[in-house]
Formats: sequence, structure tokens, C-alpha cells
Amino acid sequence: MKKILVSGGMGYIGSHTTVELLNLGYEVIIADNLSTSSKEVLPAIEEITGRKPVFVEIDLADEKATNRFFEEHTNIDAIIHFAAHKSVNESVDIPLKYYRNNLFSMVNVLSNMEKHGIKNLVFSSSCTVYGQADPLPVKEDSPVQTAENPYGNTKQICEEMIHDTSLAVDIKAIALRYFNPIGAHESAKIGELPIGVPNNLVPYITQTGIGKRECLSVFGKDYNTKDGTAIRDYIHVVDLAKAHIIAIERLLNNNNKKAYEIFNLGTGNGYSVLEAIQSFEKVSGLKLNHKLVDRRKGDIEQIWADTEYANQELGWKAERGLDEMLLSAWKWEQHLAKK
Ligand code: WQD
Repeated sequence: MKKILVSGGMGYIGSHTTVELLNLGYEVIIADNLSTSSKEVLPAIEEITGRKPVFVEIDLADEKATNRFFEEHTNIDAIIHFAAHKSVNESVDIPLKYYRNNLFSMVNVLSNMEKHGIKNLVFSSSCTVYGQADPLPVKEDSPVQTAENPYGNTKQICEEMIHDTSLAVDIKAIALRYFNPIGAHESAKIGELPIGVPNNLVPYITQTGIGKRECLSVFGKDYNTKDGTAIRDYIHVVDLAKAHIIAIERLLNNNNKKAYEIFNLGTGNGYSVLEAIQSFEKVSGLKLNHKLVDRRKGDIEQIWADTEYANQELGWKAERGLDEMLLSAWKWEQHLAKK
């Protein structure tokens, strides 16, 4: 069976994708520096799948270490590149951490692909490349606007690096622009593992629900939306993981139509922060302590995906609804509380 390198495979989306790959019989190597993940993810992946991926602790932003890695680990058929920092608001506070990590690791991966004849790349991109898209829903050919934050800018730059490289050398690539990944595997053995105070909404909701946080602050109550709070296209992490399998097999089977393709991965539904809170309260039976406060810098008002192209071209459609997403996140939080 084919060998897939999953960079950042100990992370949230990377670990869920690794589970899908192992369940399908792929050989998986995870390269991860554990900067925002825990080694405990490895036994959890093994418990779920009954199979153990190879794990190498490495900083892919370190050129020498990455070159050595690719010398040692040969016959890689494809790479799924997740390894990156991804907090919108943290990137506003420490931009250079984001440019160094996200861009240096991308360059090192691409140059080693060329050197070692690895032809297939799936890249973890983001809807943040669109900035505040207008009109909505946003399509893949919607203009990529000037990024509203350094995180989104690193994703734009990485996409351009990949595109230019695919035109210059024998590499074919697919960029998957995620909307807002939330939820956890049905086993509740893997899920989102924010380090410290969560930046993202849903882990903050579930930590407030479990009593780890006092009160959720809702950032912004005066947006031009149905209830004044910001709207996002939340997508279940398992739906997202399954899309990566389809993308990698599209490349492995040479079914791609261009050397560089882009797909939106969203549900096509936009939900406000208050709607996410209501969904959590419904599935958990709890009343969530929250307060409405000022907007957060770097945030956009609203975004949701046009999913037509991914549905048609990839034959992929998100299947899980908002309640199932919040329930899976809640079950994962309860699992963590038992540890
Ligand atoms: C969602 C909404 C906040 C926390 C994320 C990822 C990014 C990218 C896009 C994949 C916003 C509000 C949040 C809180 C709140 N995904 N919020 N209180 O900023 O849309 O970006 O999705 O690449 O990597 O970070 O997600 O969950 O931080 O915020 O009111 O305590 O929830 O203002 O409107 P965001 P988020």
C-alpha cells in the first residue's frame, strides 16, 4: 500500500486524517514537532485503528533536520502538509512566529519533494485567504483579498509557493481551503487539544461547559448579521479528514485536471456564534455562561463556502450537522475531564 507522509499529523486535523488513512490500509509516517500537540495522540490513533503510524519528532522549519528526514525516509508516495501554526488572533500578536514556522516548513517540504521525486502534495489551506469575501457564499475563484491577519497571509503565500513550484517542476498539488473545523472523532479518543486558553470558539465553549473556564466572551455583538454575532461555516473534522483521502487519491490516481487545484471544504451553511452556543446548550442540556463583548482584532464579519465545485469535482460533501459537531466536541471534552 502507498506510503503517505502526514506533516503535523499529531495535530487536530492531521490526527483525524491519519486515522482515515490507516483505516484504509495506507502506510503513514507522521512528522511533527509537538509544539501544539501531545504525544498521547499516538496511542489514541493506535487504539482507534489497531495500527501504529511511524512517528518522527522533527521541526520541518529546520532545513538541515528536514533534509536529513527525507534522506532517511524514502519511497514516500504523497505528502499531506498540515504542519503550521493556525491561530488567527495569535498571529496578529506574534507575526514572525507564523512567517518563520509556516513558510520555512513549506519551502523545506517543497524542495525535498523536488529532490526526492515526490510528486503529490495535499496542502492544508484556509478560508482565511479570502479575507472578508464579498459576495457570499465564497467560491474558489473568488478573489483572494489582502489577508486580514498574518496567519491568513502565510496560507496565501504557501499557496503561491506551491502553485509556482507545480509550474516549474514535476509536482502536482491540491490546496484544501478549510472553513471552521470543529468537533471530534466519534470514539472521543482524539479531538482538538488547544494548549492553554483556547483561541477557537468551540473548545472555549466546551471548556466553559465542563467548568474549566468561567465564562465565554462572545467577540462582537454589532456585526451586520442576523443576531449581531459573527458567522462562520463550521465543518466536522471527520468530514474534513475524509476529503483529504479523496484529494490524495485523486493525485495518486492522476485524476487531477491541473497541476495545482484548489477546493473549498465547508458545509455551505453559515452559523453565528450565538447559534453555535444554542446548539451546544441543546446537545449538552447545559446553560452556557457567556457575555457579549467587543470585537476581536483580525476577525471578519461573516463567511461561508460555495461547496459546488468540491461536490461536483471531488464527489465529496460534508455530512455532519452543527448539533452533531457540538455533541462530538462535548463528548471529547468530557473524555479529557476524566483523564
Ligand atoms: C470563530 C468565531 C470569533 C473565540 C479559524 C481558525 C483558522 C481557520 C479559520 C483553518 C469568531 C468567535 C471565538 C471566543 C468568540 N481554520 N469567538 N469567542 O477565527 O474563524 O479562525 O477558522 O485553517 O485556523 O482559527 O475561528 O474559532 O477563533 O472564531 O466569540 O472565545 O467565534 O470572534 O467570530 P476563526 P475561531
